[in-house]
Amino acid sequence: MAVPVRLWLRAFRRTARSRCKVDCFGRLVGRVQVSGADASLEQLRAGMAWFYRRYEGELPPALRSAYAAAESEARASRVGLWRDAEPVAAVGLAPPLSATPRVRPTPPGGESLSSRRIGITRPLLGLPMDNPFLERAVSGVRALAPYVPGKPVSELQRELGISDIIKLASNENPLGPGPRAREAATRACGDLGRYPDSNGHVLKAALSRRLCIAEECITLGNGSNDVLDFIIRTFAGPGDEVVYSQYAFAVYALSTQAQGATACVAPAQNYGHDLIAMRALVQPHTRLVFIANPNNPTGTLVDAAALEAFIADLPPQVICVLDEAYTEYLRDPSFPDTLRWLARFPNLILVRTFSKIHGLAALRVGYAASSPLIAQLLNRVRQPFNVNTPALVIAAAAVDDDAHVAASALCNVRGLTELRAGVSALGLDYIPTWGNFLTIDLGREAQPVNRALLERGVIIRPLLNYGLPNHVRVTAGLQPENARFLGTLAAVLGQAEVAVANTVRAAG
Ligand SMILES: Cc1ncc(COP(=O)(O)O)c(C=O)c1O
Repeated sequence: MAVPVRLWLRAFRRTARSRCKVDCFGRLVGRVQVSGADASLEQLRAGMAWFYRRYEGELPPALRSAYAAAESEARASRVGLWRDAEPVAAVGLAPPLSATPRVRPTPPGGESLSSRRIGITRPLLGLPMDNPFLERAVSGVRALAPYVPGKPVSELQRELGISDIIKLASNENPLGPGPRAREAATRACGDLGRYPDSNGHVLKAALSRRLCIAEECITLGNGSNDVLDFIIRTFAGPGDEVVYSQYAFAVYALSTQAQGATACVAPAQNYGHDLIAMRALVQPHTRLVFIANPNNPTGTLVDAAALEAFIADLPPQVICVLDEAYTEYLRDPSFPDTLRWLARFPNLILVRTFSKIHGLAALRVGYAASSPLIAQLLNRVRQPFNVNTPALVIAAAAVDDDAHVAASALCNVRGLTELRAGVSALGLDYIPTWGNFLTIDLGREAQPVNRALLERGVIIRPLLNYGLPNHVRVTAGLQPENARFLGTLAAVLGQAEVAVANTVRAAG
């Protein structure tokens, strides 16, 4: 079967060689380097042909080794994966090569291409012309692979024509919103003809009361994704460095790259943050350090005392962003209230969301809690009306719905217990989690398993784009959803479904 290969090309001056990686769609992405002072079109074609020959027939091992090589390279050079990748031409999904193009000498004064022109002005190997605006995009965006969201149920329905689908792919709350939020939703759409309150007073007041921090410390966002993005846009630009961990939430890498800043990625330790390695990456050009706690997609938690010491040890001009999207799932009372740290650390930003335990992912509301001085700057950069009126009203009603938060946390504990029991019954490993999801090591390539699950109406998240080709992340669902996922997984893996279903029932 032909393997879809996406090539990003760049003309280089040195001897022909090639590197490849896996993009967020699980496709092989390569950079072909060709020899010669000024690469010709034919040389690039030959390079592409070589690339196809090299990788087409042996994708799985190539995927693995290519990714491993990219990772170790990044680790060795203490920089983010492919921070220097600056694709000049993204030539689209390639059909299989029918014939290898012949290499002809460069016509004098003819086909000699500067790297800027390649693939943008002409199609290569009969592939479709790519986006002519690519060259106009800022360099970080040219190299950007978009965020991969969980597949929506409606999309799978359209694709496969099946119904009865469950989605455990995006760490949403299976209970959805609580009664207070539902009630607020019915009155929230009353005034859709007016712009929202740009300052989000209703929601800020509710958060301020609840969290015991001044409204001036709060910056609202269209989901915490928005907040993370405008934090990076506020503080990091070309030449600045942003530190985060391997396997950390994907948005740090995306926004850093889009902004043209340099990602410094610390190797993970047991899939979690290695604070010593992260501290070592903090250098004079470091502007931001991101820590997701608990982390997505691995579910790991940084020890509170170590975290506090880490922040205390940072140079005061380096801003530490604690991404606490899942913090309300931490029911351990010994875990400190990080909001109290804000008074001690003026360089700390906490980022939280209504998408998880409040069950309001579709509304898109998140916020940053920080010193007022930082909030002032963030407010300069965020879009003026970034949180819409229904979102402000409904989220404000959800802030104090303690009963729903408690019910959601309990539902999560039950769901995770079921998932762990079922996964163990299948003889699979998982990463201990503090979130609302479980990351499972399938012990084999996850993509075919994921495909088979999708065909059976089960949507989970494979993690190839995080460099975890054998892992999948499954959100803790309701009991029937967990049982359906585990039973289907057992069937796909060729194991006894009944035994697994019994284990889940017993765990529940
Ligand atoms: C660690 C982490 N941070 C932030 C987000 C963004 O969430 P939202 O934009 O829905 O608030 C997510 C979403 O999954 C996440 O896992």
